[in-house]
Amino acid sequence: MKGIILAGGTGSRLYPLTKVTNKHLLPVYDKPMIYYPLETLREAGLDNILIVSGKGHAGHFLELLGDGRELGIHLSYAVQEEPGGIAQALGLAEDFADDGKVVVMLGDNILEDSILDAAKDFEKQEKGAKIFLKQVKNPTSFGVATVSDGSITEIIEKPKTPVSDLAVIGVYMYDGEVFSLIKTLQPSKRGELEVTDLNNYYVKQGTMTFQKINGWWGDGGESFDSLLEASNLVAGKRAKQ
Ligand code: G1P
Repeated sequence: MKGIILAGGTGSRLYPLTKVTNKHLLPVYDKPMIYYPLETLREAGLDNILIVSGKGHAGHFLELLGDGRELGIHLSYAVQEEPGGIAQALGLAEDFADDGKVVVMLGDNILEDSILDAAKDFEKQEKGAKIFLKQVKNPTSFGVATVSDGSITEIIEKPKTPVSDLAVIGVYMYDGEVFSLIKTLQPSKRGELEVTDLNNYYVKQGTMTFQKINGWWGDGGESFDSLLEASNLVAGKRAKQ
């Protein structure tokens, strides 16, 4: 399987920190944010990784990470000319994926748990997708899943009145069908191709599996507080090492 990190977007929620740089390059404790998802993928055995970033900052990722050798991975790059949503950014990885399964991670997500076992399970999964859920206090900020009898029945993107507290975190495993599904998506009200619409296709097909995450999870790009929290979580982990 190959890995894909999505690191585009305008980072408007972190303005002015993101006025001259990309949010995935901001510091989270002692490293640029994007190092954490790269490490999660590498540790799960995914060492061939594509980074999709926005036009203005693509060169900065290249300067920072080069071909990936310092991190023990092989990196390729793709450019999202205009922000068009997570699913649109993922669509740019079609040639890279070459019809195979992919593990996609949002460049601002920081995970304590390893996804190695989940990746092994997904290798064996005949078809479909796999996502990860985490109980959160503020579900209105995320995609929220309803689980019934051990299956996901629906995902709602940033619901005003959430029916559960299970957030869909920014790690997604997809089979090769994902790229043809992306081509059928319609832009949402905010004009983006939504990853939640993509995931709901698999939910409806009955091929979406999931796993709950026990360790901490940080979405460093969600707010100033979440950025600070991500740094504190990493600092706490370092203190224990
Ligand atoms: C995105 C997804 C959302 C998911 C979140 C996880 O939201 O749209 O479903 O729960 O990532 O980080 P964004 O942070 O781009 O608003």
